[in-house]
Amino acid sequence: MADQCPYLKKLASLNSEKRPGNGANKTVAEGRLVQLLEGQTVPVQMGNLPNAPPSWYNPIKFQQGQEFVRRHFAGISLAHFVSLITMLTSPQILKPLIFTQKSETVLKSFKRYIGTVVHVTSWYFGDVWQKDNPARRSIQIVRNMHDHGCRQMNHPDRRPQVDNTAMAECGKPFDEPSMLPSLHIDTQALASCPYVGLRRQTNKQEDPYVYFNQFDMADSQFAFVGVLVLFPHKFGATYASDDELRGFIHFWRCIGYLLGIEDRFNFCDDDNLELTRDLCRHYLDKMIKPAFKEASAEFEHMARAVAKGASLYYPGVSFESLFAYYANVVGLPSNNFIHHMPFFQWLYFLYLRLVFSVLCWIPGVMRLFSSLTRFAIGLVVARSDTVSWWPKNWKPPQVGGLDLFWTLIPKAKKVKSSQSNFVQNGA
Ligand code: HEM
Repeated sequence: MADQCPYLKKLASLNSEKRPGNGANKTVAEGRLVQLLEGQTVPVQMGNLPNAPPSWYNPIKFQQGQEFVRRHFAGISLAHFVSLITMLTSPQILKPLIFTQKSETVLKSFKRYIGTVVHVTSWYFGDVWQKDNPARRSIQIVRNMHDHGCRQMNHPDRRPQVDNTAMAECGKPFDEPSMLPSLHIDTQALASCPYVGLRRQTNKQEDPYVYFNQFDMADSQFAFVGVLVLFPHKFGATYASDDELRGFIHFWRCIGYLLGIEDRFNFCDDDNLELTRDLCRHYLDKMIKPAFKEASAEFEHMARAVAKGASLYYPGVSFESLFAYYANVVGLPSNNFIHHMPFFQWLYFLYLRLVFSVLCWIPGVMRLFSSLTRFAIGLVVARSDTVSWWPKNWKPPQVGGLDLFWTLIPKAKKVKSSQSNFVQNGA
């Protein structure tokens, strides 16, 4: 019967994807991870964008990746948010974010991350290869931000300040009771990270940490692709084909290249879906999950700020519900955490599960939620066509300057024209 019914066939294939990778691929994944860790001493490439696409750029795959995102926008936005929260467990990424003082309060975090949402969306919808396209300008702006941060934080006068960032720099603590004790109880039995000896620390005076290094960039790339490649069906992309996922990996390989990641340190190196999946699984089990054993008060504060900021345009969302959803998806122990969640957050967690893991099996549901997501962001970005008729007292705060990048192009442009534009115009 499973042979005939497309629903059962899909379910069987998704379940088989949960099996751990075979021995050979695991060794490849281990080797790749060790190679990525070597990037900790190599700073990310800065300055102007490269003038030409890399030799391995494939416009068809790239557009397949973009098309995949456009069709699953709501689920992919959710995946990015939950992964962002978990990425903050890494002190190497958390400290620069605390140091810049741009996301430690609700309002700052709202502005900071709506900026991220709009920039990244412009890459998904625009043409990063074409001169003067908003998407390409956006990439250059982000490169400049990283460039500025890198110079500041690696300056010998400032580095000790970054190394020692702590709760004192996070501003007024939030009122909610801490969930850290529950989180620690849940994760204490997990094995520690086997790569801890290879992980460089941020507060060693004699061996200073290189902020904005190639490994931290690859770590962030994992946050963008990891859970989607491993669990597309938990983010509404139930019917994602292997080609679409390959395109998505290729897209992030190109974005990594444009943001200054060397090929040897690109998390999405090679567009091999099976190898990337094995690397993601290995990375999740060995690096990400054990990191929750050490989750700090700074992590919880900054993660709460992200969720509270996002709740201004995704009503109801919270740190608790996003974390619980992530834990449920990746199989992180979370019984205590869920038991201690406030009732409303627990309901919201169930709502996320219902919509993104179940209802999105129904054709059309993802399209509806994607339109709602784009609409909510449009209200913040303040485009006149989305805001004029919407009741004023239901509007989230608006952020200026982002409408330049909020140019959603519903249909992919012809590959040929996009490529020839690049060649003609350079960058
Ligand atoms: C794939 C990798 C990455 C992507 C796609 C990315 C994306 C972005 C985007 C879109 C912005 C603009 C946000 C705005 O408009 O306010 C931004 C800013 C910034 N990013 Fe990244 N980023 C990456 C890696 C990193 C890493 C590894 C670090 C830290 C070690 C970092 C630290 C920052 C900082 C400090 C800013 C300036 C805003 C602030 O102070 O929070 N980024 N990034």
